[in-house]
Amino acid sequence: WVLMKTAQTPTNIAVIKYWGKRDETLILPVNDSISVTLDPAHLCTTTTVAVSPAFQQDRMWLNGKEMSLSGGRYQNCLREIRKRAREVEDKEKGIKIEKKDWEKLHLHIASYNNFPTAAGLASSAAGFACLVFALAKLMNVEEDESQLSAIARQGSGSACRSLFGGFVKWIMGKEEDGSDSLAVQLVDEKHWDDLFIIIAVVSSRQKETSSTSGMRESVETSLLLQHRAKEVVPKRTLKMEEAIKNRDFASFAKITCADSNQFHAVCLDTSPPIFYMNDTSHRIISHVEKWNRSEESPQVAYTFDAGPNAVLIAQNRKAAAQLLQRLLFSFPPKSDTDLDSYIIGDKTI
Ligand code: DP6
Repeated sequence: WVLMKTAQTPTNIAVIKYWGKRDETLILPVNDSISVTLDPAHLCTTTTVAVSPAFQQDRMWLNGKEMSLSGGRYQNCLREIRKRAREVEDKEKGIKIEKKDWEKLHLHIASYNNFPTAAGLASSAAGFACLVFALAKLMNVEEDESQLSAIARQGSGSACRSLFGGFVKWIMGKEEDGSDSLAVQLVDEKHWDDLFIIIAVVSSRQKETSSTSGMRESVETSLLLQHRAKEVVPKRTLKMEEAIKNRDFASFAKITCADSNQFHAVCLDTSPPIFYMNDTSHRIISHVEKWNRSEESPQVAYTFDAGPNAVLIAQNRKAAAQLLQRLLFSFPPKSDTDLDSYIIGDKTI
């Protein structure tokens, strides 16, 4: 017999960035962060997990290609979920798995991204969140989404925020064992549903410095990171929560852009400096800043993760349509501006 479960999880985009760990193994951050979870039609991962007495070992396939599960991060997630596995019974199929059986049974995991993994767009967030959620369903795990987020966190920090829709806060926590470092939902996806996201894929090349090693170097060398974590982010998260609660786009955009810019300033303050944005990224920032200043109030917020791609959050559909028109004119895809494509929902142009 084979027992299977499938889950689908969208990726999330941080509007207050996580950058820097205080514990590398448990993946505990130096500051709180806040993100917006994308619509599942955007960038998402679908994962099917299966268990069978016929399986000889744990195996995993990503986009159809087998990959190693030997990394510590996968092992940590699998171990934590297995610890919480409970009895499962499927009367129709005549299957009964007792709690103690889970230790001996092996898993097969097949995961697909609905976007190119090589596009330099965060895939680990959706990937680990989906894996943990699918396994929790398969193993009849009782823990709620926040408790599961603390397991997904051990796969990739940003993954803990993908267990919820809407706006999500990853509370850094204080405990040494990481038990209070988990995600909570601030508001659900219906609270502010006219926001519209366009992703400008500036370069589909894989990033040169991974988030993991980049943030390690920043923690070791950047004084600005210390200042940011202690002085800036605590105040900023409060303001951001307020802006989200009130659907105050002007404040939301101001804080989102400022936080992205400070994160990249921390990267520049790292020794040796890390450059995630390129010339095209900078030109997109200038373009949006100029447009926002020419209007009565900001129309679009921009944010950049550990790569040159711009995530643009428009106030509504109308602002998004105007933005796209402007972008297509000033930064046509596949041109000498180095712009590859735009992702709007499940469409790429
Ligand atoms: C810039 O979650 O990819 O996207 O915890 O080492 O796996 P690890 O790092 P990761 O870092 C994400 C960094 C970021 C900001 C964010 O998503 O908050």
